[in-house]
Amino acid sequence: MSEAVTRRPRLGFLGVGWIGRHRMEAMLGTGLVEAAAISDPSPDMIRDAAVLAPHARVVADLDAMLALDLDGVVIASPSALHAAQSIRALEAGKAVFCQKPLGRDAAENERVVAAARDADRLLGVDLSYRFTSGMEKIAELVRGGALGRLFAVDLVFHNAYGPDKPWFYDRAQSGGGCVMDLGIHLVDLAMWLTGQDVRSVSSSLFAGGEPLAARDTVEDYAVATLTLDSDVAVRLACSWRLNAGQDAVIEASFYGTNGGATMRNVGGSFYDFTTTHNTGTQAHVIASPPEEWGGRAAIDWARRLAENPRFDAQAHEFVTTARALDRIYAGR
Ligand SMILES: NC(=O)c1ccc[n+]([C@@H]2O[C@H](COP(=O)([O-])OP(=O)(O)OC[C@H]3O[C@@H](n4cnc5c(N)ncnc54)[C@H](O)[C@@H]3O)[C@@H](O)[C@H]2O)c1
Repeated sequence: MSEAVTRRPRLGFLGVGWIGRHRMEAMLGTGLVEAAAISDPSPDMIRDAAVLAPHARVVADLDAMLALDLDGVVIASPSALHAAQSIRALEAGKAVFCQKPLGRDAAENERVVAAARDADRLLGVDLSYRFTSGMEKIAELVRGGALGRLFAVDLVFHNAYGPDKPWFYDRAQSGGGCVMDLGIHLVDLAMWLTGQDVRSVSSSLFAGGEPLAARDTVEDYAVATLTLDSDVAVRLACSWRLNAGQDAVIEASFYGTNGGATMRNVGGSFYDFTTTHNTGTQAHVIASPPEEWGGRAAIDWARRLAENPRFDAQAHEFVTTARALDRIYAGR
């Protein structure tokens, strides 16, 4: 049942760094929601965010934000803070749109989803690659049976630079390295499209070319093979600061008994993808750049919130992806 909508949802934006401001601009651009409050410990970030949302109240922290009359909180703080901040906002009766990762492990993800269910509030996570037109087309092919029975998924995400903010390299603040930052997007695509759980995993994680050992360092290279419940084989390779020969190497390929489909970045770009439906040596283009896809998950959540702020059980998918990541880190 939906709740009567009487006004534009009033949102608080918690963490307005690079991605927080980008997603805020995308949401406000729809005209469907209002920026009622912003909060970030950095005065520089607040100054830049206030240009995008001149009427928003600047508040000291999440507590001050939750004291306001808000409908939702949009979280884009360092990753390790996401789960606790999401739970606080949900317990205060606010809907939440959170950056990935929602939590550092499956247990944290479960606690956030449980808080959303208990509060009966909408919970969204910025799994933005689901919203590329390439993945939308691939989803149609897979779900419509055009590829036959899916048996393999190849996922690659190499970033020749790695993040430019120090907190990403501190496990206490990030929760993990390239798997938590980049691999999550692609593993989520496999879990989202197959709807299955992981049966077994083998993985190798590296830091600076050495096997990852110390718990306080984060991985900058990872390879993993995940076997899903119905035997689908998912291969993941992802990295930061790899000598990749270009800015980024990004690919998600889905192989079935009757065909394949590949989304691949163009010329090393982080944003431009060409997507093909493959039969033998033939590759038929089904999506091509340019497109503005980065803000679409945020816009989708804003639209849904404006229509109905109540819990959507699809949020359990976040836990499935987090379980797969846990097993990549555990190596089994
Ligand atoms: N969905 C995507 O495709 C995507 C892309 C990039 C980044 N991200 C995620 O977005 C998040 C932010 O990444 P970023 O690159 O914008 O980082 P960033 O460092 O630019 O932004 C983080 C902001 O959080 C602020 N902050 C620190 N402590 C805070 C607190 N206690 N409460 C509120 N704000 C606090 C910082 O001052 C900073 O402005 C990360 O979790 C990252 O994984 C997602």
